[in-house]
Amino acid sequence: MCGIVAYIGHRQAYPVIVKGLKRLEYRGYDSAGIALLDGSLKLYKKMGKVAALEENVIGKSLDGNIGIGHTRWATHGEPSDRNAHPHMSNSGKLAMIHNGIIENYASLKQELIKKGYRFSSDTDTEVLLNFIEDIQKNNGSTLEEALRIALKRVVGAYVIVLIDKDNPDTLIAARKGSPLVIGIGKGEHFLASDASPIIEYTKEVVYVNDYEIAIIKSDELILKNLGNERQTPFIQKLDLELAAIEKGGYDHFMLKEIFEQPGTIYDSLRGRLDVQHGTITMSGIENNIDKIKDANRILIIACGTSWHAGLIAEYIIEELCRIPVEVEYASEFRYRNPIINRGDMIIAISQSGETADTLVAIETAKEQGAVILGVVNVVGSSIARLSHAGAYTHAGPEIGVASTKAFTAQLAVLTMIALRIAKERNAITPERYLHLLQELHDVPEKVSEVLEKADLIREVALKYQDATDALYLGRGYNFPVALEGALKLKEISYIHAEGYPAAEMKHGPIALVDEKLPVIFVATRDAYHEKIVSNIQEIKARKGKVIAVITEGDETVTSLADDVLPVPAADELIAPIISTIPLQLLSYYIGVAKGYDVDKPRNLAKSVTVE
Ligand code: G6P
Repeated sequence: MCGIVAYIGHRQAYPVIVKGLKRLEYRGYDSAGIALLDGSLKLYKKMGKVAALEENVIGKSLDGNIGIGHTRWATHGEPSDRNAHPHMSNSGKLAMIHNGIIENYASLKQELIKKGYRFSSDTDTEVLLNFIEDIQKNNGSTLEEALRIALKRVVGAYVIVLIDKDNPDTLIAARKGSPLVIGIGKGEHFLASDASPIIEYTKEVVYVNDYEIAIIKSDELILKNLGNERQTPFIQKLDLELAAIEKGGYDHFMLKEIFEQPGTIYDSLRGRLDVQHGTITMSGIENNIDKIKDANRILIIACGTSWHAGLIAEYIIEELCRIPVEVEYASEFRYRNPIINRGDMIIAISQSGETADTLVAIETAKEQGAVILGVVNVVGSSIARLSHAGAYTHAGPEIGVASTKAFTAQLAVLTMIALRIAKERNAITPERYLHLLQELHDVPEKVSEVLEKADLIREVALKYQDATDALYLGRGYNFPVALEGALKLKEISYIHAEGYPAAEMKHGPIALVDEKLPVIFVATRDAYHEKIVSNIQEIKARKGKVIAVITEGDETVTSLADDVLPVPAADELIAPIISTIPLQLLSYYIGVAKGYDVDKPRNLAKSVTVE
C-alpha cells in the first residue's frame, strides 16, 4: 500500500503533490511527507494524515518545481515522524519515496552498517536508498546505473521515486509489483500510484511495467528495462472524470458509494445484459468462450471483500453451470504449491487490480498454464493487464476504504459470466435463464428501494452502536453476505464481528449468545427459509437480540426479530446483491455514531500492495 506522488515541471510542486496525496490517502494514512528541490533539498514529514503535514509546514519554505510525496501504511517501523517518507540518504543528496517491501533489507542493512552508514528510521526504504547511494559512491556511477545495479540485488516489491540534489532537473522511478502511473503534460510530468492525482492536469498516461526504470525530466520521459534497453512508452487515454473522485455533497465517500449503487450496478450491466433479446454480451468472455465453457474446474482467487464475492460466485456458477468451483484466498494459494491442471480456469477478482497477493497468485497460475479471467474495477491496473481476458466491473473509483459498490458490481458481473457460460453449456433451461436475466435487470431499482429506507436502518444502527460483539448468520447464497456484513462492521466500527453459516452456529458461536449480543440474520426468502427461521428461534430462546434482513412482508421473521431490515423480493440467486445493502448502511451508521473516520478506518488501506 502507501500512496506516492511526484511532480516535475513549471508549476509549484507542493500544491500538486499535497492534493494528490489526499486523493491517495485511501492507500494508507499513518504518516505523510514531502521533499522539494529548490537549490536545497527540503524535507517535511509528519505522523498522521496529510492534513497534519499541511499544518506542520505552515510558514515554511515550500518552493520548488520538482518534488516527491508519500502517504504511508506502515510495514517496517511503527507510524511516526521518523519512519515517514521521504527518506534522505546519508550524504543528504538523495531523497526517496517507496511503496512496497524490501524483503532482504536486514542483510543489506548489516552490510551498510559495517561500512559506517547510519539509519535514522526503522524502514526498509532507508536501507534501499543508502544501498543505492553506496553503489553510486563505490562505482562512481550515475544514479541511474546505481539504481539498476541495486534493483538486481533487491528481493521484494517496490515503486520508488528518487530526487537527486546534484541533478535538479530529473526524477528517477522504478517499479516491480507496486503500481506507478505517469501523467504526461505539456512540459511537465506527474507520477502517482493511481491516476486520481493526475486527471485534472492531463488524461495522457503511461502505466510503467515491472522491472522498468523511468528517467523523467519536465519535457522528456525515458523508459528502460533493467538491462538498460530503451522501452517505448505506451501512452493511454484516461477514461475518468474528476467528479467521480469527489464527495459530491455526501458526508463520506462510503455513504456516497453506497448510494451510487443503483447507478454502478446499472453501469456494470449496461451494454451487456439485454433482456429483450435474451443475451449477455461481454467481449472478454465471448472471445474466449470455448476455453471458458469447457473448463474442467474454476478456481476463484481474491482477498477481502472480493473473496466474499468469489464465494457467492462459487454457489452461482456451480448451480447454473455445473462446473466445480474452488475459492481461494490469494495469500494461501500462492504459497501452497497448488495443483493446476490443464483445462483449469482462474477467475481473479479485485477492485483495485493491485492487491499483491492476488497479483502474484495469478502470475504463478499463469506460469503453470492456467487461463486467467480478471474481474477488476480499476481500468489498466496490474491484474487487468496480466489477465488473458476479463470483464471490468465499471463501478467507478471507489475511495472509501471499506468496499461497497465494487462488491455489488462484482456480483453483477460474476452472475452475468455464470449465466453466459450456463447458456453456452446448455446447463440452464431457457425459462430459468430468461427469468434470471430479468431479475438481474431489476436489481438497480430494488437497490434504490432499499436505499430509500436508510433512515430506518440508521435508527436500528443507533440502538446497537454500543455492542462489543456481533454475530452475522446466513445460509446458502446469503452465507457469504453474512461474512461480508461482519467484515464491514469490523472494518469501520471496530466492533468484533463474526460471520457464520447459520446452522454451523450451533457448533461454537452459540456459546456467545446472551441478552447483549446482536445477531444479524440474512434471512430473505429462499429454499432454506424455514431452516433459518428455526435458527432465529434458537437465538431468541437464548435471549439474543435478533436483527434480520428479510423479504418485505415476511410476517414470520418480523414477529420473532427485535428489528427487521426489509428488502424487495428477489430470486435467491440474485438476492445477495440486494441484501448486502442494508448491512453496508448498518455498519456505516454505527461507525459514524461512534465518531470514527469511516472512510479511513484505523490500520487499514484500500489497496494492499504488500503481501
Ligand atoms: C483491502 C481493502 C478491502 C478489499 C481487499 C481486496 O483489504 O480494504 O476493501 O476487499 O483489500 O482488495 P481488491 O482491490 O483486490 O479487491
